[in-house]
Amino acid sequence: MKKLTIVLSLVLSVFAGNALAAKSSPLLDQTHLEAGVKCASCHGKAETREAVKMTKCIQCHNTKKLAEKTKNVKPTNPHKNRHFDTELDCASCHNVHEKSENYCGSCHLRFDFVVP
Ligand code: HEC
Ligand code: HEC
Ligand code: HEC
Ligand code: HEC
Repeated sequence: MKKLTIVLSLVLSVFAGNALAAKSSPLLDQTHLEAGVKCASCHGKAETREAVKMTKCIQCHNTKKLAEKTKNVKPTNPHKNRHFDTELDCASCHNVHEKSENYCGSCHLRFDFVVP
């Protein structure tokens, strides 16, 4: 019985480990790759890759639809806000090759977003 408990808790901790890894979310380059979005879909075919502008992001992510999709996110809709409505630059919060950041939180502590 004891042995079984140990085996079970080992199995469970492996699952929990995976869930945790998934929680400390993957970077957006990974997420996009998994969704079939290649480097060139964002960067184009240019030889040297430069930071991708928001105009590119919104070719695939419509800002109005995005705001609609996240309208019930608490504590407030990250895609529609008092200052910039639906047009705040994605890059204020979303980084693609490094961890994203919570732009609102720098001034409003209560907007504690976890940004993918
Ligand atoms: C979803 C759009 C997107 C995809 C897909 C993407 N990138 Fe990027 N890339 C960006 C953005 C935005 C930046 C600016 C830095 C950041 O946000 O992390 C960037 C920056 C870079 C830079 C540095 C350029 C600079 O001067 O800052 C390189 C190099 C790069 N990407 C290479 C790649 C490669 C290789 C892939 C494929 C594995 C890829 N990118 C996929 C959006 C993308
Ligand atoms: C070629 C189309 C395309 C471009 C360009 C693109 N994306 Fe995406 N993006 C997708 C797809 C497809 C998904 C996966 C399905 C979804 O969540 O909408 C996705 C998912 C996401 C997600 C959700 C990730 C998650 O973990 O839930 C974010 C955030 C995102 N994109 C931000 C960006 C940003 C910022 C840019 C510009 C730098 C960008 N995307 C450019 C197609 C694109
Ligand atoms: C103020 C910070 C902020 C800005 C600016 C921002 N986002 Fe987000 N985004 C978030 C947060 C927070 C989430 C996670 C929402 C949740 O908890 O479901 C998110 C989620 C997403 C998702 C996944 C939505 C879903 O539920 O499937 C996509 C796609 C996305 N953002 C794209 C973008 C694009 C494209 C832009 C620019 C037009 C942008 N975001 C601007 C904070 C931001
Ligand atoms: C550079 C600092 C700064 C950033 C970043 C910022 N705000 Fe504000 N915000 C303020 C200030 C200052 C006020 C008070 C003046 C006003 O009402 O416009 C305010 C007021 C507000 C209000 C109305 C008053 C309240 O507290 O309810 C909301 C809602 C709000 N901001 C949401 C946001 C959201 C969402 C973001 C992220 C997309 C954000 N803010 C980013 C500085 C900032």
